Amino acid sequence: MSTHPAADAPRGHVTLPSLAASVAAGEKLVMVTAYDYPSARAADRAGVDVVLVGDSGAQVVLGHASTVPVTVEEMLVLAQAVRRGLTAPLLVCDLPFGSYEVSDEQAVATAVRFVKEAGADAVKLEGGGRMPASRIRAITDAGIPVMGHVGLTPQTAVALGGFAAQGRTVEAATRVLREALAVQEAGAFSLVLEAIPSDLAAEITPRLQIPAIGIGAGTAVDGQVLVLHDLLGLTEGRAAKFVKRYASLLDAMVDGVAAYADDVRSGAYPGPEHGYAMPDGVLDAVRDGFPPAP
Ligand code: KIV
Repeated sequence: MSTHPAADAPRGHVTLPSLAASVAAGEKLVMVTAYDYPSARAADRAGVDVVLVGDSGAQVVLGHASTVPVTVEEMLVLAQAVRRGLTAPLLVCDLPFGSYEVSDEQAVATAVRFVKEAGADAVKLEGGGRMPASRIRAITDAGIPVMGHVGLTPQTAVALGGFAAQGRTVEAATRVLREALAVQEAGAFSLVLEAIPSDLAAEITPRLQIPAIGIGAGTAVDGQVLVLHDLLGLTEGRAAKFVKRYASLLDAMVDGVAAYADDVRSGAYPGPEHGYAMPDGVLDAVRDGFPPAP
């Protein structure tokens, strides 16, 4: 059992109306990524509102250098495991790069797979130009809620000039604001604002009727999202400026495995308490049927 007061409190299912009601009541929404059963259980027990099976799993779970290579099939396996671990939070799944850009029909077909095969409550896709807006409309018309994502959109980071904050010039800030409004207009139920100036997020958020969830977007947004592996200290190297580390799990994992390795090498593990006994006489009876061991 967790010792944190917010953990393990009984809660009902999070729904789109309950999310909107929380925002209307002035509560901040909490969203976190998860990619497997244990991380889903941790998020569920910690009482978060929304769990995202992010395509960031391409990097933090599958070891790719970017989110681009992850496939629908790989994302589905992650999403199915997360679904099994959740009881209350809303489950949102990222549509990976290449699975929705070709046509509205492709986008709807991919979104349907996440709902039917992984039990997703909603899907998320990146961008706010004409193409993403049309895809959002098509998917919502098919009855699947869509979360948008503008600002720094990692799937197209190369085209944006790299993993840099967005919206820092008049032109760029105007583009982010226009895209946020277009995503709302297209029917999204919520919107991620990633790596944009806090003042720009504060300008965008009150212009939206849908919840804005920030990651590197300051405090004026309706909620926050972080990549689980970043916040738990499971990633190596320098983290993005907006990451706050709440634990050092990779160090704890290395320490645990190293202690096990030491015990195996020294003979301290396994101890007598880790072994199985057998009734008297059984081994003698087995030996009777074999020549003696050399
Ligand atoms: O893939 C992901 O983890 C995301 C979040 C950063 C919002 O899209």
